[in-house]
Amino acid sequence: MQLLDTRYKITETFEYNKEHGPFEDVADVNPQINELLGDMLGVEVDFFGFRTRMPLGVAAGPLYNTRYMHAAALDGFSVITWKTFRSVDRLAHRNDGSYLGHNIVYIDGSPISPDDLATPRVGSLTYEQDPVGLSITNSFGMPSSAPSAWMPTVQETEAWMRAHNKETITSVVGTPNKDGADGGIDDLADDYAHTATCAEEAGARIIELNFSCPNVSGKEGSIYKDENNAKTIATRVRDRLKPDTKLLIKVGYADAAYYEALLRSLADAIDGVVAINTIPMEVVDEAGKQALPGGRTSGICGKAILPMAVEAVGNLARAKRELGVPIKVVGCGGVMAPEDVMQHLDAGAEYVMCATAALFHPTLPLELAQYFKDNSVARPLTS
Ligand SMILES: Cc1cc2nc3c(=O)[nH]c(=O)nc-3n(C[C@H](O)[C@H](O)[C@H](O)COP(=O)(O)O)c2cc1C
Repeated sequence: MQLLDTRYKITETFEYNKEHGPFEDVADVNPQINELLGDMLGVEVDFFGFRTRMPLGVAAGPLYNTRYMHAAALDGFSVITWKTFRSVDRLAHRNDGSYLGHNIVYIDGSPISPDDLATPRVGSLTYEQDPVGLSITNSFGMPSSAPSAWMPTVQETEAWMRAHNKETITSVVGTPNKDGADGGIDDLADDYAHTATCAEEAGARIIELNFSCPNVSGKEGSIYKDENNAKTIATRVRDRLKPDTKLLIKVGYADAAYYEALLRSLADAIDGVVAINTIPMEVVDEAGKQALPGGRTSGICGKAILPMAVEAVGNLARAKRELGVPIKVVGCGGVMAPEDVMQHLDAGAEYVMCATAALFHPTLPLELAQYFKDNSVARPLTS
């Protein structure tokens, strides 16, 4: 069985992992993937002009430095998202000794339904089963360096990815109450726009607005739940970006009617939606005590959220079709095995991403290529 902590050490702080990780030399499996797919196999997608038959990428979160970004590309992921950047320096939550972990603990991967959300899950620092069944909870508080530190790194990585036939997304978030700002939606929209233009200046071609982090106490974590605030921010950002820059939003789980209202309202401002972010739940240790700093509730991701993520993607894809809007639906959530990728695609995702697997089961792209070959999956581009 694969060792789970080769890419990220959950018993260390975020800053330690950012400085030293990933903790292994990563082999380039792209030649093997290309050989498995030959000229015919795979699911062909067009991601804003970037064509691939490996429709699997990394969602915002697991990748904090160029070494992590390069490792994901060598693993065979095709579209690779940076961890969300802010316009200010911010440290991650860290364990002062009162909690089980710093930012991540393993949890059991049995599926979560909307009816289970009030029942706490028990976290652990060990996991000895097959990684395809893994779930984790994470609570970082959206740490970031300042733009002066991350912009040069984004710039270098854009060039490196293009040279390696990969695509990059730069995820950003606004920071409320910055520099004595009044904390209103207008200031927050300005900070989102400022951070997005920093990313664009650094060469980002595709920018994602994180509207959905459950692990922060400010209002930036739940923008997607307020259609009017989401529209104010997305429109402000759109107006400040170059027309060719693609703009995505990252949302959490919601019902079909809400997604339809959100897409209708944002249709003129955005090019795509990535769904879903983690699902907030209480996570405790064996004694029933809060497992991670940052709050009793933290974001659940990995296998347990697959059914809710696939349902959300199905609802977004239906809303997109019914409204006739050209918004790309990117499926994310619970993808740990090739069959999980297929569930997202069959629900209507035009591209699929994973976060937990990128750290704890990074052989997934190679396994997906093998799955395409074994099952003769050959889906040409349709849209
Ligand atoms: C370690 C880790 C850090 C994350 N940080 C972010 C983040 O900075 N911004 C964001 O939009 N989502 C973040 N996420 C959420 C993921 O992008 C994704 O939406 C969620 O984990 C569900 O996908 P999964 O089940 O494949 O993990 C993070 C997830 C993980 C596992």
